[in-house]
Amino acid sequence: MARQAPLSGVTIGRVMLLCPRCRHAYRGSQRVCPRDEAVLVAPATVDSRIGTVIGNHKLVDMLGTGGMGAVYLGEHIYIGTRAAIKILHEQHAAESDAVTRLLQEARAAAAIGHGNIVAVSDFGETHDGLAYIVMEYVEGRPLDALLEESAPLPLFRAINIVNQIGSALGAAHQKGIVHRDLKPENVMLGDFGEVYVLDWGIAKVLHGHETPLDDTIDLPGDSPATRAGTVLGTPSYMAPERRHGDADPRSDVFALGVILNEMLSDEATLSIAPELVAIVERACKVSSNIRRSCRCTISARRPTASSTSR
Ligand SMILES: Nc1ncnc2c1ncn2[C@@H]1O[C@H](COP(=O)(O)OP(=O)(O)O)[C@@H](O)[C@H]1O
Ligand SMILES: [Mg+2]
Repeated sequence: MARQAPLSGVTIGRVMLLCPRCRHAYRGSQRVCPRDEAVLVAPATVDSRIGTVIGNHKLVDMLGTGGMGAVYLGEHIYIGTRAAIKILHEQHAAESDAVTRLLQEARAAAAIGHGNIVAVSDFGETHDGLAYIVMEYVEGRPLDALLEESAPLPLFRAINIVNQIGSALGAAHQKGIVHRDLKPENVMLGDFGEVYVLDWGIAKVLHGHETPLDDTIDLPGDSPATRAGTVLGTPSYMAPERRHGDADPRSDVFALGVILNEMLSDEATLSIAPELVAIVERACKVSSNIRRSCRCTISARRPTASSTSR
């Protein structure tokens, strides 16, 4: 269980501000939304969920947003303990895929059960019909916020972070679960040096392993979290061969390598953009061995905004 400090004492790098137009969340020194140039505001001024009660938790602040949902800091109304509560974005409310992924996230975390994976304790639906999960709250900040502020990191710090992520991935892979969306915004750093891998919503179960994911999820109107022919993930961290659909434990290791490179350089490696992969594939006339044969990476300056979308 992550150790928790008192609620006060917010420091730079973890102040969360929201764009009043696009509702994107930003941390750190960002004051204006780079997407639409609106001045960022405190979440409570534009987010009507803050102050409301969901299940047994009162939402007291926003912790971040991603492609799937908004994550709030919740306080248990009877016990006073804190939790992180991820609520699906409204635009996903009607998509059974999205609900399935959220449930998948809870089940993957439970199936792996590892100290470097945030524990999920509940799954439910808000009054207005949005699925949510209740997670262990990590007092800290995501790796992307740290990198934006302090990259490159000292070698020992980077190795420590990689070790902890690798430990979570190792446990997942042993259970036949592949994360498939490993990237700095899906890694939380606790204030006491702990590292947690978040966001197992598009995790995949390898053939021959029995885990309570994918096939056994039996929500009404359910469909698999990964539709045939759909490639899920984030291109910058995706092994080139994943463009052809298949992920295995090596895909997570590739993403971890990209993260390590990002931690040790002051430039973000954008890895291989999908368009470039297509060009390289054609040029090299190889489809599955691009990484080994061509070793193509393009570097670009680290983006200035700590965007937290998937
Ligand atoms: N358990 C948690 N404790 C603290 N902050 C969290 C927690 N889970 C998520 N967050 C914050 O919310 C952001 C989005 O969470 P994530 O699970 O990646 O959402 P999505 O599935 O929408 O991408 C993270 O980058 C992090 O800043
Ligand atoms: Mg995420």
